[in-house]
Amino acid sequence: MSVSLPERLRARWRDWQFQRRQSAILPRPVPADWADWQRAFPALPARLPQARRRAEAEHARLCAQYPALSQWPAGLPDVISADSLTLLWLADGHLRPWMTPDWWTLQAGAPDAMLATLDVGTKNAAVMPGWATFLAAQAAQMAATVLQLDAIELDAGRRYRDGRRRVDYGQALMTWCQSLLSATGVSAAQTRYLAGDVLAHTGRHALITWLMPFVFARPHQRWGLPDRHFQPRAMAAHVLSLLAPGGLLLCVHLNELEADAQAAHWQACELPHRLLSCAVVEDPWLYPGSRRVVTVLQRLA
Ligand SMILES: C[S@@+](CC[C@H](N)C(=O)[O-])C[C@H]1O[C@@H](n2cnc3c(N)ncnc32)[C@H](O)[C@@H]1O
Repeated sequence: MSVSLPERLRARWRDWQFQRRQSAILPRPVPADWADWQRAFPALPARLPQARRRAEAEHARLCAQYPALSQWPAGLPDVISADSLTLLWLADGHLRPWMTPDWWTLQAGAPDAMLATLDVGTKNAAVMPGWATFLAAQAAQMAATVLQLDAIELDAGRRYRDGRRRVDYGQALMTWCQSLLSATGVSAAQTRYLAGDVLAHTGRHALITWLMPFVFARPHQRWGLPDRHFQPRAMAAHVLSLLAPGGLLLCVHLNELEADAQAAHWQACELPHRLLSCAVVEDPWLYPGSRRVVTVLQRLA
């Protein structure tokens, strides 16, 4: 298919901008006071009273179940809290039911075992406080296990309105997650924000989260990413290969159209796997009233 000149110029421009962002030096430490983080992030849109009541009720339920939630910094920007609460809520409802005692024995049974987790396309690691809170509640199941929390992002150099980058905030959030895990009794935890392409990442992970992957070219381009990085089928196969046998993948899509397109990519994967569950959800925090699709897959061998 021939590509028009304006399309080609736009692609070149995206590519150039992307390269410029990634090569940016001068990392700036993020503010030590959480309240000052507000300057970097937009406020959440106002919610209708009914949606607010639902979000409050779900928050209270999660607080009762996940004590580490009470340790989240008071000044954490609302958009970061919303991302994290959403992941905690999704993991609690859709992943936890599959993390049976047998599953734990397989993944974290050996005394010197390492339980690795990965968040793909993590942006600024905003979901990681929620993820660490979820894992902290499972500490009893992984008494002697070293926990490795990784989060990877291709466009880590993108800047916020205060001039700091995703990687700057992401690293600070990962460090905070590490201290949360140590404070909640996980015997050993390492956390890393990885700036790079997941297609170049290796390892075996017991748990992978992949929220809102780009399945169609247009959103990928609007996000400002070069065309060469739009490889949804290769990404699906590679992300599956990053799971340990028996490992679980939680994947969330914007809508049913994207979930269906992704399902075709899963079907094309050669590695044996099975779809454990697929459900339409209404997220209480980020996009109340929307219909996201949450899928859980397991690698079989
Ligand atoms: C729609 S955003 C979702 C961000 C975040 N997971 C969320 O739910 O808010 C998709 C993210 O995946 C990242 N991404 C795309 N291709 C990637 C790749 N090959 N490796 C790592 N990250 C990638 C993009 O840069 C972008 O931040």
